[in-house]
Amino acid sequence: MNGRALFTLPVVAAAFGALALGAGGCGVDEAPPSHSPEPLEVRLPRGFPPLIVPDDNATTYEGVALGRQLYYDSRLSPDGSRACADCHLQDHAFSNPDVEGVLAHINLAWSRNFLWDGRFEGTLEEAMIMEVEEFFGTDVERLKEPDLEEMFFAAFGSTEITTERAAYALAQFQRTLVSRDSPFDSYTAGDESALSEAEFRGMELFYSERGECFHCHATALFTDNLFHNIGLDAEVTGTGYGAVSGQARNDGAFKTPTLRNIAMTAPYMHDDRFATLEEVVDFYSEGIVYSDTIDSLIPNVHGGGLQLTTQERSDLVAFLGALTDPEFLTNTDLARP
Ligand code: HEC
Ligand code: HEC
Repeated sequence: MNGRALFTLPVVAAAFGALALGAGGCGVDEAPPSHSPEPLEVRLPRGFPPLIVPDDNATTYEGVALGRQLYYDSRLSPDGSRACADCHLQDHAFSNPDVEGVLAHINLAWSRNFLWDGRFEGTLEEAMIMEVEEFFGTDVERLKEPDLEEMFFAAFGSTEITTERAAYALAQFQRTLVSRDSPFDSYTAGDESALSEAEFRGMELFYSERGECFHCHATALFTDNLFHNIGLDAEVTGTGYGAVSGQARNDGAFKTPTLRNIAMTAPYMHDDRFATLEEVVDFYSEGIVYSDTIDSLIPNVHGGGLQLTTQERSDLVAFLGALTDPEFLTNTDLARP
């Protein structure tokens, strides 16, 4: 930019304002179309860790709208065959009962370790770049259509389409995939009637030193975002996070999944080995298998596990059901645009 442009612009605008805009493309001093994306504040309940938003990707209505469009848009894949939302279904908390091992998209804004075995570590933006560039191999030429160009302009102030911008918009959309409105949340906010007696007893077991669940399914996010070998298999050499980190002590360890909406994300575990929550609870009760790297937080590792009573099992399953957030599963702001 030079002094001339600064000087002439106001003159042109004052003298021929409407005319100059209407004519369009008439000269070097044309005023840029307006671009002022509106900041979007994500509502967080008490107990949630602060949301980290990078300086170069503030959450805006326009950015989120673009990210949501791309999430549901098969033009993101080079042959137009699939969209993120084909495998990540909202009514299953963005997981999928029919595709193996699909991880839910819940509160990923707080995650720095991605994928069951931790193959990807980084920020949410970096994770989305990996999904777009490496997993999908997005061809930006396919995205250069008027509807998307308009949305890229609204979000980023220019119609230039890059895989990085697509990923940034997807990251903004991911930051709105916040689940926080379950009966458990109503209970912690002070509504004692929000949990049934069985759910309440299940919660007490979950948070007890006997149950130990809360150590790993920790905080209001119900995950510590770390990796543990919970005793699924006797032979764990070279599996899980160990294969990624190269450290034998991580063998058999997988990412702790959040338990929010867990009743909606069957089947369970990294290899989908359990069909129901009852089976998962039975596993923690007497299905634990010892291996060298089993986590020290897993109780009674030589005796099969917790040894729960029939009532304790059903209480625990009831409590897990109280982590379902119907608002998240049906919110039209998160649905196909
Ligand atoms: C063909 C099905 C499929 C499609 C399409 C798909 N995903 Fe996934 N996604 C999966 C599976 C399976 C996993 C778990 C893989 C693993 O951990 O090894 C996963 C995991 C993830 C994770 C990691 C979540 C976590 O908790 O660590 C993110 C992030 C993600 N997907 C984003 C996307 C985005 C963004 C798109 C679209 C660009 C997309 N996915 C499209 C199947 C799919
Ligand atoms: C040592 C840490 C740890 C403890 C303690 C623990 N979990 Fe887990 N949990 C995990 C990890 C890690 C996984 C995923 C394991 C895998 O797939 O290999 C998991 C998986 C699950 C799943 C399936 C999640 C899914 O999306 O597939 C449920 C349900 C679950 N745990 C509930 C519980 C309950 C209930 C307790 C207490 C009885 C408990 N966990 C104790 C770490 C832990």
